[in-house]
Amino acid sequence: MKLIVAVSENWGIGKDNDLLFSIPKDMKFFRETTMGKTVILGRKNLESFPNAKPLPKRPNIILIRDKTFSCDGATVVNSIDELLALPIDFSDAFVIGGEEIYRQLLPYCDLCYVTKVQETADADKFMVNLDELPEWELVSESEEIEDNGHTLTFCTYERKKV
Ligand SMILES: NC(=O)c1ccc[n+]([C@@H]2O[C@H](COP(=O)([O-])OP(=O)(O)OC[C@H]3O[C@@H](n4cnc5c(N)ncnc54)[C@H](OP(=O)(O)O)[C@@H]3O)[C@@H](O)[C@H]2O)c1
Repeated sequence: MKLIVAVSENWGIGKDNDLLFSIPKDMKFFRETTMGKTVILGRKNLESFPNAKPLPKRPNIILIRDKTFSCDGATVVNSIDELLALPIDFSDAFVIGGEEIYRQLLPYCDLCYVTKVQETADADKFMVNLDELPEWELVSESEEIEDNGHTLTFCTYERKKV
């Protein structure tokens, strides 16, 4: 699996079930990177989308414990085991959050796209800090980009080969 996330300097990702930043260039990067790919997300992340609708033009897989929940245009699973039993190619699937889903699925990921926004932000949800995990290495970082009053870089982390 792959993971895609936008983080503040302290790896904050959200507050009050919303994103911390509105950055058109990052939204474009997210859209272009995940378009046509399977995306895996948690119930709270889904609820934060406009009208709580799955992302268009991508197979969506939603994690939720409520076995009665269904969602038009998405596959619903009730556990990580059920997710992993799906007959799909996970190597090209994207974990798109939020915090609970990132934490549980990071062990299955071998590549993370991390947009680093050069700001501290008042967050209540966080991504695991990959710079503190010895099994992950930063393999590329873009030049600094300015957008909508924010400074950001696009980073790629890879799981180290053992
Ligand atoms: N910065 C970014 O790139 C980014 C990206 C995505 C999201 N976010 C932010 O992240 C925040 C949301 O994160 P979150 O941690 O609160 O919620 P979340 O990870 O989106 O969803 C959590 C929910 O997923 C379900 N779930 C979790 N583990 C499960 C499992 N093993 N089996 C079945 N269902 C499972 C549960 O739903 P039920 O309780 O209904 O069972 C749980 O309450 C928001 O602020 C959002 O804006 C940021």
